[in-house]
Amino acid sequence: PLRSVLPPEIMARKGGAPLVVLTAYTTPVARLVDPHCDIALVGDSVGMVLHGMPSTIGVTLEMMILHGRAVMRGLSKAMAVIDMPFGSYEESPEQAFRNAARLMAETGAPSVKLEGGVHMAETIAFLTARGVPVMAHVGLTPQSINTLGGYKVVGREGEAARVMADARACEAAGAFSIVLEKVPVGLAGEITRALKIPTIGIGAGADCDGQVLVVDDMLGLFTDFRPKFVKRYAELGMLADEAIASYAAEVRARTFPAPEHGFADKVKS
Ligand code: KIV
Ligand code: NA
Repeated sequence: PLRSVLPPEIMARKGGAPLVVLTAYTTPVARLVDPHCDIALVGDSVGMVLHGMPSTIGVTLEMMILHGRAVMRGLSKAMAVIDMPFGSYEESPEQAFRNAARLMAETGAPSVKLEGGVHMAETIAFLTARGVPVMAHVGLTPQSINTLGGYKVVGREGEAARVMADARACEAAGAFSIVLEKVPVGLAGEITRALKIPTIGIGAGADCDGQVLVVDDMLGLFTDFRPKFVKRYAELGMLADEAIASYAAEVRARTFPAPEHGFADKVKS
């Protein structure tokens, strides 16, 4: 069945209540995110957050399909967006369509996200014309970490006009919304006012049309890096550490399992 929320409805949210977006990679987390969010993003951040990869470069289409399917099983209200991984769309519009079609057909998600920019505008137009709604992603684009040279702010001073041009090109090509990552707050506001499609910020200030965070970051579950733009709403990693330490201590002290966790040899009659 058709999901209640589809990309045209997200696009129409421009100027309305802020769009609430979190990542999800698994069914249980999708179930937690679903009642509270407009969009669940199956980000390629899954490679770093769940698989321990050093960057998102090694994430494969197969990984995105597997996590996409898991997330779809946990959603009933929020719209899913699935990241196209590095190497699955940059070569040509045809390559991008072939892989976007696999992501959509094999997961049931109604849209994809890709990183870029002026250089991806032709691909965004090609996909959009063929039934693939595209969320674009400009500013800091982690798949280009090796050409960017680090996870730095993108769009200060001389770079601002280029980021604005990237955002405008994505809109002109038909993107239904756009992520602005690690873009200075003033520029993010200017882009938001210049575009008719909603901007979704991460480290891009309060003037965007919506916000996204990596759910494991805001829950305190992924603590390898602590970007300035992450607010920790919980410390689940610390809670888990305490719980696991208690379990280990009780096993070593033979206080777990207790009698109530065992099975009698005879059933009482
Ligand atoms: O992969 C991801 O989680 C993302 C968001 C941070 C926008 O692309
Ligand atoms: Na991503």
